[in-house]
Amino acid sequence: MNEIYAKIAGVGKYLPEKVLDNAYFETIVDTSDEWITKRVGVKERRMSAPDEYTSDLGAKAAEAALKDAGLAAEDVELIILASVSPEMYTPSCSCMVQAKLGAKNAAAFDINAACSGFIFALATASLYIKSGAYKNALVIGADTLTKITDYKDRSTCVLFGDGAGAAVLTASDKKTGVLGTVLGSDGAQGNLLTCCGLKASDEDIERRPFSDNKRTIWMDGQAVFKFAVKTMESATIEVAKKCGVDISELDLVIPHQANKRIIEGARKRLKLEHDKVFCNVEKYGNMSAACVPIALCEAVEQGRIKPGEKLVLVGFGGGLTWGSALIEL
Ligand code: UT7
Repeated sequence: MNEIYAKIAGVGKYLPEKVLDNAYFETIVDTSDEWITKRVGVKERRMSAPDEYTSDLGAKAAEAALKDAGLAAEDVELIILASVSPEMYTPSCSCMVQAKLGAKNAAAFDINAACSGFIFALATASLYIKSGAYKNALVIGADTLTKITDYKDRSTCVLFGDGAGAAVLTASDKKTGVLGTVLGSDGAQGNLLTCCGLKASDEDIERRPFSDNKRTIWMDGQAVFKFAVKTMESATIEVAKKCGVDISELDLVIPHQANKRIIEGARKRLKLEHDKVFCNVEKYGNMSAACVPIALCEAVEQGRIKPGEKLVLVGFGGGLTWGSALIEL
């Protein structure tokens, strides 16, 4: 039997209309455009409307990706959605997206691997395609972090925004698409980046002195920063090695967009030229699972990556988790 590959047949994105610029944060916390620009590299981020939730964003990005792939919602056999901010415990966000799309022939489930989520979802969906179980899959990364952000905490509130990105995977007999993935987790370091659900420990409560419900994001920024730079380097090297590709052969690296300095640190360690690393953090900030697929979509739209070229998606995040995927477009 011929080997089956998981081709990227389409990409899509959705960003809410409302823009929060750095001047706005100067009015709500003790910060400045200069500090945010220099330390993080963000100028603007998007905020979902009060009645606009993760599944709304996810469905819009998915519709765009299906259109790009030339597929109808009924063609989709699998939907995997990655998020840390689904609006419900159940139904899952992916089931809500399925209903919104009318993708009645799909099985749908969520994945939570925080900012690495899209890469975990892509890796999972590609294995389903490669196994022959499904021919078409929709992979979505969607988050509404502004709904779980503490706007009294200057060390986190300036970082986050909302958005959704999606990719359609289809079975192909040509060697293309997702050629290899690397996933990793270190639960023992989970305490470095938290957002409480049903339980909040005394430590969680102490860490969030301003937050009313404790269901807001807290992190040890510096520790996550160091972890991020090292992991982005090692996960990129590992996936390239696994696929027998030299780093110098990569046409583009699309990293998770948490902080321009993290991206720059990883770029230098990998000895990559500036134009080989995609960065749009200044426009949207950190949108967790949505960053990588939105960046992928924009890289395609801008012609930064073309059919036949090779790229690596790489991310890190809460859990702690990390992941990378080597793709031939
Ligand atoms: O997606 C995965 C999760 N997130 C990340 O990857 C984020 C990783 N971490 C980071 O990006 C950075 O650590 C931050 C952007 C969060 C912080 O930058 P930093 O350069 O590591 O700053 P810091 O935490 O060392 O703080 C330096 C100073 C502190 O003041 P003092 O104690 O030196 O007086 C902070 O209170 O900067 C202060 N500070 C701010 N000042 C102005 C923290 N946030 C702000 C702010 N405006 N918004």
